[in-house]
Amino acid sequence: MRNIGRTVQSAIYRDGVFGHRPAVPTDPDALAEAARRRMTRTGWSYVAGGAGAQRTVDANREAFGRYRIMPRQMVDVGERTLATTLLGRDLPAPVLFGPVGALELAVQHQRTHGGRAAAPRNAEPALARAARDLGLPLVISSQASTPMEDTAAVLGDNPRWFQLYWSSDDAVVESFVSRAETSGCEAVVVTLDTHVLGWRTRDLDLGYLPFARGEGIAQYLSDPEFQKLVAARARTTSAGTTGETGSNRPTLAAVRSLLSMARHHPGSTWRNLREPYARAAVETFLDVFSRSTLTWPDLAWLRRRTTLPILVKGIQHPDDAVAALDHGADGIIVSNHGGRQIDNAIASLDALAPVVDAVRRHARPVPVLFDSGIRNGADVFTALALGADAVLLGRPWVYGLALAGADGVRAVTEHILAELDITMALAGVSSTEQIGRHNLAP
Ligand SMILES: Cc1cc2nc3c(=O)[nH]c(=O)nc-3n(C[C@H](O)[C@H](O)[C@H](O)COP(=O)(O)O)c2cc1C
Repeated sequence: MRNIGRTVQSAIYRDGVFGHRPAVPTDPDALAEAARRRMTRTGWSYVAGGAGAQRTVDANREAFGRYRIMPRQMVDVGERTLATTLLGRDLPAPVLFGPVGALELAVQHQRTHGGRAAAPRNAEPALARAARDLGLPLVISSQASTPMEDTAAVLGDNPRWFQLYWSSDDAVVESFVSRAETSGCEAVVVTLDTHVLGWRTRDLDLGYLPFARGEGIAQYLSDPEFQKLVAARARTTSAGTTGETGSNRPTLAAVRSLLSMARHHPGSTWRNLREPYARAAVETFLDVFSRSTLTWPDLAWLRRRTTLPILVKGIQHPDDAVAALDHGADGIIVSNHGGRQIDNAIASLDALAPVVDAVRRHARPVPVLFDSGIRNGADVFTALALGADAVLLGRPWVYGLALAGADGVRAVTEHILAELDITMALAGVSSTEQIGRHNLAP
């Protein structure tokens, strides 16, 4: 991507001459606010919310204010490029679409061709179209609302990775990884920080967990190994109590939940309502979602099952980065899950430089990626300056998706890339690969 800043900026100002303002705001707070106004209450709470008193969410943002970019003058920056190489792949920019589960929550409010009920199935395909248009890698989530094969079909030859939640069932893990390979994924990202779901007060106070309604479990529902577990469960139990009140009296909410499970389950909704499988699938998912017994040596098990590079996501402590490298990881993602897991944890940005330094000192240096708190191009610049090789974008493009589908994802991402390019120009840098700590104030 060459000089994208001026191109995007000029297009917006040119449209402004005709009285048009950007449909997707460029200001990060205005973007979030516009999305909040459009999204469902539960959808907004799930996407925007974090753990506990939201202190880590806030800390992730505040941290960016503590690192200041140093402007430099009289440097020839007439020709700029964001291009980079990551894990041997040439990319137009050091930016990826991070894994975001239950993405259907961002489009629940949208009316589409097939009516409102069809909107949830459009989330990942819309994201995939935007990723393909921009040529940026998409990290497909284990908790996606669309089977990975369908997302892969929309992506064409665009790069994609697969994010794995390490299920407590080995056969499901193996099946996910093998489906990811067949779907053309070029790396596996193992998320380590979510073996237990964080204490997410906003969702708790709404009594709302998407997965309990069948939302965000499409990878499982479409998986042959998972389906075997569901069938076994449906044979041996009456499928648990999801959707029933404590007194077992049906409520309107319970009926809605059952309907949601039936709609999300493969096959006819009507048949799913009468048979036990849809409920059994949700119960099975809640049972096998993840395991808290994992330790570093378990990484070797995964290593034996795939030849793809393995990156670990959720690293904050440099010792964990070193342990990951000692146990065969091919990349580190410094992330605190957007503040969704531990309240009052350190800002992810504060973890970045120590991890980068530890990885660079290691005998087997690997790429270090960063996420959590990036809202604009200056933030991307700052993360690259602290040593990240690339960044993952999260909530901002989800807000774009909520506002305007694939166009919204593209617009948000172009705004971020444009600001990155302009920041580079004004800091006297013509290539993302030149950005370093020298670009920050001491
Ligand atoms: C709604 C939502 C769902 C997410 N789902 C996943 C997921 O399925 N797997 C994963 O590894 N990370 C997931 N994440 C974390 C993101 O990959 C990323 O770490 C986080 O969004 C970065 O924080 P930021 O959005 O504040 O920049 C999710 C984040 C959000 C907001």
